[in-house]
Amino acid sequence: MDGQVLQEVSWMGFDKLAFFDAIGYQPHPGQMKLHLATARYRILACGSRWGKSTAASREAMAAMMKPDSLGWVVGPTYDLASIVFREIMYGWLKARPDFVEDYSETRGYMRLINGAECYAKSADNPASLLGRGLDWLIPDECALMQERVWQEFLQARLIEKKGWAMFTSTPKGKGWFYQLFLRGKDAEQADYYSQEGATWENPIVDKEALLKNKPNWTKRYWDQEVLGHFIEESGAVFRNIRGDHLSGDFQEPSKGHSYVAGVDLAKHQDWTVITVLDETGHVVCWERLDQGTGWPTQKMRIASTSAKYNGATCYVDSSGVGDPIVDDLGAMGVPVMPVPTAQQKTQLIDALVVAMDNNKITYPEIPVLLNELEIFEHEKTGTGRDKYGAPSGMHDDAVISLALAWRGVVGEQEWFIPTKGFG
Ligand SMILES: Nc1ncnc2c1ncn2[C@@H]1O[C@H](COP(=O)(O)OP(=O)(O)OP(=O)(O)O)[C@@H](O)[C@H]1O
Ligand SMILES: [Mg+2]
Repeated sequence: MDGQVLQEVSWMGFDKLAFFDAIGYQPHPGQMKLHLATARYRILACGSRWGKSTAASREAMAAMMKPDSLGWVVGPTYDLASIVFREIMYGWLKARPDFVEDYSETRGYMRLINGAECYAKSADNPASLLGRGLDWLIPDECALMQERVWQEFLQARLIEKKGWAMFTSTPKGKGWFYQLFLRGKDAEQADYYSQEGATWENPIVDKEALLKNKPNWTKRYWDQEVLGHFIEESGAVFRNIRGDHLSGDFQEPSKGHSYVAGVDLAKHQDWTVITVLDETGHVVCWERLDQGTGWPTQKMRIASTSAKYNGATCYVDSSGVGDPIVDDLGAMGVPVMPVPTAQQKTQLIDALVVAMDNNKITYPEIPVLLNELEIFEHEKTGTGRDKYGAPSGMHDDAVISLALAWRGVVGEQEWFIPTKGFG
């Protein structure tokens, strides 16, 4: 089929659903609803793995049947934009390689023989968002983008050609993406259409396995990532801190029992905290060393605590100053597991929240720990990412130390959406 013929058959009376059929895409019922919506701005706020990126990429492919059209896929970072771009590019290369005139994965560019073009763009490089008028625009994972990217850069690209946009994202707090979503729920805003949906609307998601796993998820994470709900951005993280958790005393090591220690090392103004947990998740020993202690003494204390508790493996914060300390402890014969807490804070804390919610941890009355658990908070950063920590000027070393020890009990955990046919 040459370019001329393609132009004729492709746009006059173009039938999108027949096109989907022809390229082998069978939308699930939720996706079908989205594809049939005719509003200029479509907002899709659904759980992870719902099929948002797939639906958006197929919509883009259909839009590219319009000769000489221009569209962008925008992600919060270039890597995220590339995910949808590649879906489009490989979608074409698989379904109709003969329609493809030029493409480059590294440049994030493709062109069909009818002159239609598609680019991948990154929201963290606003200068790259200037340019020509667009026929269509897909900001993916847009809850992670700053509002100004849409307000100051993208919106203007759609004016000239009266282009359409499809905003897709898993909800993240109640920022601008939430405001946009509300517009689509307002019957008077005919230009906007909003749709939500739980992860399991995608038939490949194993709903039964997911429900069975629910006790392993934090409520926040479940509501947001699975149900696709917009939840409040900040607030206390740990609940019922005294309740059932506060029980028992410190204990001397028992023969034949095994223990793990979590060690958060002092950075600037804070403390080194060592927390030892037994197999039942009880805090049997807790020590705090002020930063004036000096590293040689601190290392000796960590080593002796580990030795006392039957050679407890120490899960040590290896970020920053921790790195050489971990090496030194290893050289001293201390069983040590480095954990880069700076990068893994969210996972470490989420695992601790789940453990607390499910009554898997107990501790004696340790005022510093109780206070830090109480004030520990959750907030969203300007870019919509989750951030955990103590309010400014306060400490969270005891919380991190406990989270590191819990990592030693349960290992590294990852939440994922189970799909059918994969164990
Ligand atoms: N209609 C469909 N038919 C078959 N498989 C589908 C369909 N839609 C999506 N999938 C598959 O479901 C999985 C998740 O899809 P996709 O990546 O589009 O979801 P997402 O909502 O963008 O996920 P994430 O939240 O991870 O970005 C992928 O493996 C995709 O191939
Ligand atoms: Mg996606």
